[in-house]
Amino acid sequence: MPLARSLSITSLSGLEEWDEEFDLEDAVLFEIAWEVANKVGGIYTVIQTKARLTAEEWGENYFLVGPYVESNVRTQVELIEPTNPALKRAIDKMNSSGCKVYFGRWLIEGSPYVVLIDVAFTAWNLDKWKKELWDNFSIGVPWFDREANDAVLFGFLTAWLLGEYAAQCEEPPHILAHFHEWLAGLGLALCRQRQLPVATIFTTHATLLGRYLCAGSVDFYNNLADFNVDKEAGDRQIYHRYCLERTAARCAHVFTTVSQITAVEAEHLLKRKPDIITPNGLNVKKFSAMHEFQNLHAQSKNRIQEFIRGHFYGHLDFNLDKCLFLFIAGRYEFSNKGADIFLEALARLNYLLRVNHSDVTVVAFFIMPARTNNFNVETLKGQAVRKQLWDTAQTVKERFGKKLYESLLVGQLPDVSKMLSKDDFTMMKRAIFATQRQCQPPICTHNMLEDSNDPILTCIRRIGLFNSSADRVKVIFHPEFLSSTSPLLPMDYEEFVRGCHLGVFPSYYEPWGYTPAECTVMGIPSISTNLSGFGCFMEEHIADPSAYGIYILDRRYRGVDESCNQLTSYLFQFCQQSRRARIIQRNRTERLSDLLDWRYLGRYYISARHMALAKAFPDTYFYQPHDSDTAQGFRYPRPASVPPSPSLSRHSSPRQSEAEEDDDRYDEDAEAEKDRLNIRQPLTLPSKKGPALPYTLPGWYHQD
Ligand code: UDP
Ligand code: G6P
Ligand code: GLC
Repeated sequence: MPLARSLSITSLSGLEEWDEEFDLEDAVLFEIAWEVANKVGGIYTVIQTKARLTAEEWGENYFLVGPYVESNVRTQVELIEPTNPALKRAIDKMNSSGCKVYFGRWLIEGSPYVVLIDVAFTAWNLDKWKKELWDNFSIGVPWFDREANDAVLFGFLTAWLLGEYAAQCEEPPHILAHFHEWLAGLGLALCRQRQLPVATIFTTHATLLGRYLCAGSVDFYNNLADFNVDKEAGDRQIYHRYCLERTAARCAHVFTTVSQITAVEAEHLLKRKPDIITPNGLNVKKFSAMHEFQNLHAQSKNRIQEFIRGHFYGHLDFNLDKCLFLFIAGRYEFSNKGADIFLEALARLNYLLRVNHSDVTVVAFFIMPARTNNFNVETLKGQAVRKQLWDTAQTVKERFGKKLYESLLVGQLPDVSKMLSKDDFTMMKRAIFATQRQCQPPICTHNMLEDSNDPILTCIRRIGLFNSSADRVKVIFHPEFLSSTSPLLPMDYEEFVRGCHLGVFPSYYEPWGYTPAECTVMGIPSISTNLSGFGCFMEEHIADPSAYGIYILDRRYRGVDESCNQLTSYLFQFCQQSRRARIIQRNRTERLSDLLDWRYLGRYYISARHMALAKAFPDTYFYQPHDSDTAQGFRYPRPASVPPSPSLSRHSSPRQSEAEEDDDRYDEDAEAEKDRLNIRQPLTLPSKKGPALPYTLPGWYHQD
């Protein structure tokens, strides 16, 4: 039965309205990615957060396709019988031909249907399919590249699924298949080569070559047009992967990427200009009480403080109330993610805080997964010691309270000198002795497998940030993603972010960058760069981003050392803000959430889908570019209360009078309306990557 669906995306706090009338007829949408119900990095966040909106639009005709990973399925997926008869027949047919294909509901918001394919179960086909890949596309995949082997299996199996589904439909179907990233790309190429009735979209979330080139010592952005792509891919032994990626990009009816900066990169490295940019959104949670997110910050911060009490036991010589929590998180790509300049800036900040006799202490967390064999003893011991101190204090408190109560019952004020017994003192002394420590509080929470050549640890050894008492900047490296079941820091990532003060993401290569976007919707300020998709997007849509707690570091037109100085000055200024100013700033940051909501950004995905349907099935669908697909921009104005700043290098941190200091709920710019100016900045290529960081440290880092 044809389904006539249309979508209306209404106005969000003044952002442009968008109504779409597009009859989807009987179209069915398959969205295919290696990260469906399988967390690896940011692509998982795209798929997982977008599911609700897409399921609302496509209803029963939306299916996500991913790999079957037993541990994920056990915790995230409810396996059920396929709901769509043609799809059921297709899956049964594949299963009776030696495949293992599962159907279920992914237990996330929107509860989308998922088709999960066990690629290992069909590995016996690998050689045959690789030969077919060679014969038809001249792409040879070496036996030792496990990820590429998975890509081959996944590609052939998804194309099989789509072909089988088409064959099982009674009427000629209108299938739309959206493939994400090179790992899923081969399925797309096979659909085209087999001339299946499938409209195809390919979204690249980064180019393989871009990621590899940036991680080296190449001046990437200035040489984009000049790279000999085949040679560069060959030199890095990723030629076959690169060919899979480029084939998918070239074959797709519609090619998209996540940001303007990656669009330019794709044009040069994949040799196709994206048809439309599909920026990444989030599922924004709205609280009924406007300031609930501020309370959540305070609650989560308390839990981080508890962790710090344990981690720094015996060295708690700083005021936790004046302690700021900074963090960087994401896949462990040391220089691409800007961990190198963050460390360098922390060393400089340490110096500035010391010479200025600041009473602020900064704890900087690095949450980047590396190879480890579990937590180290010293870190676990810290939490055990803290727990013991807590238990001791509770026991003494109870005994004290009992004596006090008994004394009051008989109408006497207690004799304070007798309230604590000898035993109580002995117990307390023992607990205090247990906090003695011969070593400094550890930098790393885990036993690293490659400790001696780990980039973060090597850099810390060089700059000398060893968590000593004199240091105003402390560093904690947690080389594993966070989890609420951790015995060390039992918080999930969202709770942790809420409890921090500032996210620092000074990336050199970052097609989008979910981490600062997630900070924004939780009302936590962040630092990103003008080389990240997110940073450029915010720069484009906000007149004065730093006034909203969105600091955008210049890594385009400055050398590394200069960017590092700018980062240091952002950090130092942040440390000088009062609590009151931080609260105002968080309110402003959170106000930008709508801009990053899928309910607003989902429109670009919708346009891409309509475009693909119209290209593949011109007799049935017609696509007319929507106004908001074209270059019409809008900008959030600077908050009304911020005075125009004469200096670009000075960020507009909120200021307030003494009287306002205690008023947490003061809304300093309630009258500020989001206006819509048609301003779009042309993308200009960034300047030189610049010389490597000056790691030969000036003496002032180590002043006593
Ligand atoms: N993340 C997570 N747990 C952590 C740290 C990070 O789940 O402990 C997630 C984070 O929520 C974000 C993703 O990892 O969605 C990183 O995505 P991003 O786009 O920033 O970078 P990528 O790693 O994909 O390059
Ligand atoms: C939130 C809470 C306040 C608390 C503040 C701490 O705004 O609602 O009660 O004082 O956080 O802010 P800070 O930046 O010092 O962590
Ligand atoms: C990739 C990019 C990251 C982006 C994510 C989701 O992992 O490296 O910048 O946010 O995909 O699109």
